[in-house]
Amino acid sequence: MDFSLSEEQLMIRQTTREFAEKELAADARERDAEERFPKEQVKKMGELGFMGIMVDPKYSGGGMDTVSYCIMIEELSRVDASAGVIASVNNSLVCAGIEKFGTETQKQAFLAPLAAGKKLGSFCLSEPSTGSDASALQTTATRDGDDWIINGTKNWITNGTQADTYLVFATEDKSQGSHGVHCFMVERGTPGFSIGKKEKKLGIRSSDTCSLIFEQCRVPNANMLGEPNKGFRVAMFILDGGRIGIAAQALGIAVASLEAAVKYAKEREQFGRPIASFQAIQFMLAEMDMEVNAARLLIYRAAAQKDRGERFSNAAAMAKLHASKTAMFCADKAVQIHGGVGYTKDYPVERYLRDAKITEIYEGTSEIQKLVVARDLIKS
Ligand code: CAA
Repeated sequence: MDFSLSEEQLMIRQTTREFAEKELAADARERDAEERFPKEQVKKMGELGFMGIMVDPKYSGGGMDTVSYCIMIEELSRVDASAGVIASVNNSLVCAGIEKFGTETQKQAFLAPLAAGKKLGSFCLSEPSTGSDASALQTTATRDGDDWIINGTKNWITNGTQADTYLVFATEDKSQGSHGVHCFMVERGTPGFSIGKKEKKLGIRSSDTCSLIFEQCRVPNANMLGEPNKGFRVAMFILDGGRIGIAAQALGIAVASLEAAVKYAKEREQFGRPIASFQAIQFMLAEMDMEVNAARLLIYRAAAQKDRGERFSNAAAMAKLHASKTAMFCADKAVQIHGGVGYTKDYPVERYLRDAKITEIYEGTSEIQKLVVARDLIKS
């Protein structure tokens, strides 16, 4: 088995790392404090091809594989996990969905500008009363001639206030459960569609999360993505890919935590010597390194399965479950190794700890990932 990366994959690691250190690092702390969206940086990410890295070049994408995508998200998130999720949502929740389920006309109209980074995408599944139980969604779509009328509220929408194109899931017939759901592409500015409350979050504070309100919002039938009543399957397929992206985001946070912990342990002296010379610290660092490497292997396995066209729901769920746990573990240990200063804003590890938590919640909680894995085990 060959674990080495290709030249292209090594190149994307280097390009993303250089970008992240040059363009994201300096102000990451301020953006987090001010809850400021990295608008200029996202524009540059688009110019570098980071917003549609896996999309076919004929739709303005980078044509790269999922492993390259994971490397890019890891490197962005190593410096700024908010930038990581902004890119992840655009790439794997929006572009990948339109590329897989869109018609040629839809791909030209919606996918190409998103993949080129000229527009930003958002994925709108969750609602005030439906998070994990996603198929119980309450937003309705009612047919009216050649259009659909959408009514309802969406919650926890990443990129919500900034996006141009929104994938919106709505039900025509609630009694049909997961079999009555449609998916629509809704453009910013469509009458009846407005931005709701912006959330004040524990972490990933420079990414943008809000609710969206649909009141008699008229959307043409031409904007339906995928077949009618297959919207829930579209959402689930998209989320399988999204979960690999969030796993890569979690890995980036874990790597940043480990690097910060090693650096501090070598600098900080207690009892007349660097704390890195104490076994108590070494054991923590060793466990962090082992978990980081295990997470990376699970992520690459899921990405490779996806690239080979195999079923990858189970592998993606496992990768996200383990990587998010690893992000929490490593960020927690990094704060512990820093001691008192780790609990202050003078060092970045408190941000890593706050940022890590969301990776156990969004795009399916850790409990939902276990459900996906367990259902697969029982079925086979
Ligand atoms: N791919 C394709 N189809 C799938 C699928 C998959 N991975 N998983 C399920 N389906 C299909 C099933 O085959 C089934 O179809 P049929 O009835 O035709 O056979 C249909 O979908 C319903 O499946 P289930 O009966 O398994 O559905 P369920 O109601 O039991 O739900 C669940 C399963 C795994 C719990 C699902 O609801 C789930 O993933 N919940 C979590 C939701 C989630 O991840 N939300 C994230 C919000 S987005 C977000 O966080 C983005 C952000 O902004 C960062």
